[in-house]
Amino acid sequence: MTYQVIIPAAGQGKRMGAGKNKLLLELDGIPVLIHTLRVFEADDACAGIILAVHPQDESEIKALIEQYQLTKVCGFAPGGKERQDSIFNALKTVETDGIILVHDGARPFIQIEQIQLLTELAAKTGAAIIAVPAKDTMKKVKNGVVEATVDRSSLWAVQTPQAFRVSLLKEAYEKADKECFIGTDDASLVERLGQCVAIVEGDYDNIKLTTMEDLYFAEAILKKRKKEFK
Ligand code: CTP
Ligand code: MG
Repeated sequence: MTYQVIIPAAGQGKRMGAGKNKLLLELDGIPVLIHTLRVFEADDACAGIILAVHPQDESEIKALIEQYQLTKVCGFAPGGKERQDSIFNALKTVETDGIILVHDGARPFIQIEQIQLLTELAAKTGAAIIAVPAKDTMKKVKNGVVEATVDRSSLWAVQTPQAFRVSLLKEAYEKADKECFIGTDDASLVERLGQCVAIVEGDYDNIKLTTMEDLYFAEAILKKRKKEFK
């Protein structure tokens, strides 16, 4: 099952506090964004990558793509104010139907096997996302006081990639745009259409690099993977 993937890479990395786009920080000597792009570059099912980039980072990112000889980036879209704006800009450039994935540039540890399960499920159902069961006990808190302990067995932490039929994702983004709805992930826009979203159980390694300490976890994951390949 072939697919195209939109990779939003136009954030500012404010919570990382590095003073620049966190995707340009290096892990093991290679920029985070390149780690992410390499996964899709290596996946035969990936037919093309559309990158949403901030104009300020565009020339640096284009130079890196050339330096690392990546061949699948087939389009660029300007980043917007919110992640959702960046993805909408990229989605507008997609002309073919089929399966489209959205994957955060900040999740470099996604694995091809997971992408394959996800795209196959999305092809059947229209919409599928990767998620892992919540590990911590979850409580609802108001004004610093616990209101309720939420039943953990029904809670999942959602990751990317998220996969959709192109026509469905376009309809969802257009509706959200018209109604000025901002969601925290792509599936939440699709859910508003009444569409069922299927789950693929993912991997806890597929972290999103968000704050400085995530870089330590990332180094540990890389180390573990290097050992596995020895
Ligand atoms: N992103 C984007 N356009 C935006 C905001 C975010 O393309 N306007 C991208 C980021 O580059 C990242 C992904 O969306 O790959 C997930 O966003 P997040 O982890 O929040 O990254 P940042 O927005 O860069 O970080 P922060 O919120 O801490 O500023
Ligand atoms: Mg952000």
